[in-house]
Amino acid sequence: MPTIKEILQTMDYGPAPESTKEAQAWLDQHGRRFGLFIDNKWTEPTDTFGSFNPADGSELAQVTQATNDDVQLAVEAARRAHPGWVAMGGHGRATVLYTLARLLQKHARLFAVLETLDNGKTIRETRDADIPLAARHFYHHAGWAQLQSEEFADYRAVGVVGQIVPWNFPLLMLAWKVAPALAAGNTIVFKPAEYTSLTTLLFAEICQMAGVPDGVFNVVTGDGRVGEAIVKHPDVNKLAFTGSTEVGRIIRKATAGSGKKLSLELGGKSPFIVFEDADLDAAVEGLVDSIWFNQGQVCCAGSRLLVQEGVYPRFIEKVKARMQTLRVGSPLDKSNDIGALVDPVQQQRIHGLVESARAEGCEVWQPSCAAPDQGAWYLPTLITGASTTATVSQTEIFGPVLVAMSFRTPGEAVQLANNTVYGLAACVWTESISLALDVAPQIKAGVVWINTANQFDAACGFGGYKESGFGREGGKEGMYEYLTLRSEDARPALPLGAEKARGDKAKAKPGQEANPFQIDRTAKLYIGGKQARPDSGYSRAIIGSNGAFLADVGEGSRKDIRNAVEAAHKASGWAKASAHNRAQVLYYIAENLAARADEFAARIAAQTGSKNAEREVQAAIERLFYWAAWADKYDGQAHQPPMHGITVALNEPVGVIGIVCPTENPLLGFVSLVAPALALGNRVVAVPSEAHPLSSLDLYQVLDTSDLPGGVLNIVTGSADELARTLASHFDVDAVWRHDGSAEGCAEVERLSAESLKRTWVGGAKGRDWFDPKQACGRSVLQHASQVKNVWIPYGV
Ligand code: NAI
Repeated sequence: MPTIKEILQTMDYGPAPESTKEAQAWLDQHGRRFGLFIDNKWTEPTDTFGSFNPADGSELAQVTQATNDDVQLAVEAARRAHPGWVAMGGHGRATVLYTLARLLQKHARLFAVLETLDNGKTIRETRDADIPLAARHFYHHAGWAQLQSEEFADYRAVGVVGQIVPWNFPLLMLAWKVAPALAAGNTIVFKPAEYTSLTTLLFAEICQMAGVPDGVFNVVTGDGRVGEAIVKHPDVNKLAFTGSTEVGRIIRKATAGSGKKLSLELGGKSPFIVFEDADLDAAVEGLVDSIWFNQGQVCCAGSRLLVQEGVYPRFIEKVKARMQTLRVGSPLDKSNDIGALVDPVQQQRIHGLVESARAEGCEVWQPSCAAPDQGAWYLPTLITGASTTATVSQTEIFGPVLVAMSFRTPGEAVQLANNTVYGLAACVWTESISLALDVAPQIKAGVVWINTANQFDAACGFGGYKESGFGREGGKEGMYEYLTLRSEDARPALPLGAEKARGDKAKAKPGQEANPFQIDRTAKLYIGGKQARPDSGYSRAIIGSNGAFLADVGEGSRKDIRNAVEAAHKASGWAKASAHNRAQVLYYIAENLAARADEFAARIAAQTGSKNAEREVQAAIERLFYWAAWADKYDGQAHQPPMHGITVALNEPVGVIGIVCPTENPLLGFVSLVAPALALGNRVVAVPSEAHPLSSLDLYQVLDTSDLPGGVLNIVTGSADELARTLASHFDVDAVWRHDGSAEGCAEVERLSAESLKRTWVGGAKGRDWFDPKQACGRSVLQHASQVKNVWIPYGV
């Protein structure tokens, strides 16, 4: 008779299959053919394509490839529905969202099984993660709808939103996007990924049951062409996209200059950092959740394992031992860990990338288990010996493949972690709270999990830095993505006085003496805290309002911008200076400006002919006080997700911001944009008013006497178009703001920014009343000057 020990050693899992009866019945009920869901009605299925179960290759249903006309009908339905949905009010919408949440829970098992059938992910994950979290998003956002009139009183819904999602979390991505959009009062045209439309179609039925009014939620299925039609539709006001960085770039370019709001949640190559004092066994479990969750088809998967040298060999052995116990097989079996990939196309892609690593001399290790014969599978894989520049170290593999390397010091860990174009997430494992909280802010990523991995909640924002995209989903910050400030509607149609000013330039006749100031008549640029001659050696003449020559200013060029950006990067200490210090510097600038108020007013009057010059200087002083006041008050938040611990939302500076200032109000416009950026710790390369740059140049002396460290603010004069173009194309500039009233110039900034996916804030062809605090102040400006990082800190576990 075997001993108990022997039995335990030989014990294996019995089969634990989940029944698919209900899901199959639901598919049968629809004849396994689906039309589109437009205006609360199903269209006849036409031009259909197959949706397959990737675990065995069987066809589940036929789904319609929508046409441009279908997208048109869906947008029209959403537009018609919009006023009624807004008129329902916050409470009315809250009850609908609450009903959706309840119905999702009621049909949770059906959703979970259908998702597993369609996507190939394990039932364990759809049942325990995807569907409960989707329901949680609707509950949470029912709350935001209820509180909208109080918490977002200055905002209105954006209008019709187009939402395009990928296949890795079909229903969960829907919930992340649909819940906040509906809560805020928008109507929706939604496109699921072509591989995984089925749970979206089931959700459309749930909307009918929940009494979502006609046209509020519309579904158009199909491939990228349908997404493209939504993106290009002129009556869509906002686009929310999750998917590959490549398509994100296409969408950024396609929407440039359209005025559409845009949020992009793109790829990642997230580091999983293990310090030598970490609880190694817990870290191994975290790693399983991080890279093998959903077969690694997760944008924030911890696909780069960085382990401190002293524990590297031991940790790798532990990882291999754990990989050996991962169970690969039918996703419907409740005891399996690894399911199928979404499609054979992904299998081939992953295979190609792993083989490229082998060819480059890396070691590729897989556990000894076998994958099923049929369907799309890939075994969990560990790659070691890859260089930091190897394809597998830099490219998003989007599969169950982990690339491991070691580091010596925390500094090196941070460098390796940030050595990627992406910035979505990171995990930090250490028992030292001091080390964890020192490292977390240094990692350029939108989410940092400390001693945990892949945690998500509706109350906590999620989204990327760098080429992982911009905008946040979840949390209060996610709500703003679906809202527009009412004051934006009040902006004047044209930049005040800018038309005239833009046309006036370069009519100078040097020597036409009308300058009342004793100044150096060839004002230089201001780079790294010093005055610098323009590289071009050229200058341009600045003409006063009476047509008289005032001064020559440097004609800044590409090289000057390059120097200014370098200086700005060197001044990174500004981001670490205390908010109190930054406030003090801004107050000091205001004080020094006040001491020379008359001089500045005279200069403004000479340039613009303004009768309001004194008022403009006073407003600029007040604006500096205003942003100084905010410097130490734009706090983050401590969220309370359903986890034993806290999630700290930190408002971090964006980095180096290029600012093309308004043409009008040369001092107030400059201060209104530059000061909030500086207040939050950004460094700035500013291009002053092209027509009236002298007010900004007069500031040099004020800056020099105000303790502003060199390189924090750099000023380059010249052609706004050319300098904006250079800033928008520069890979080391993190954001570009353009507010000089040039519609084409703003569109160009957005188009060029697509290459490095930098953030933009452009004013378009409309003007802005810089005197009006409603248009020029407020938290919305600070949102442009910051990006939220959510740091998850579990404790007591
Ligand atoms: P994708 O980015 O092509 O597709 C995502 C969604 O965008 C789908 O609904 C698709 O139909 C739609 N789409 C495609 N082209 C479009 C266009 N020109 N305009 C508007 N919408 C368009 O991603 P795909 O092809 O499914 O996966 C390719 C790779 O992208 C993956 O291997 C992975 O590396 C990455 N990816 C990353 C995701 C993430 O969450 N970070 C999600 C999905 C894919």
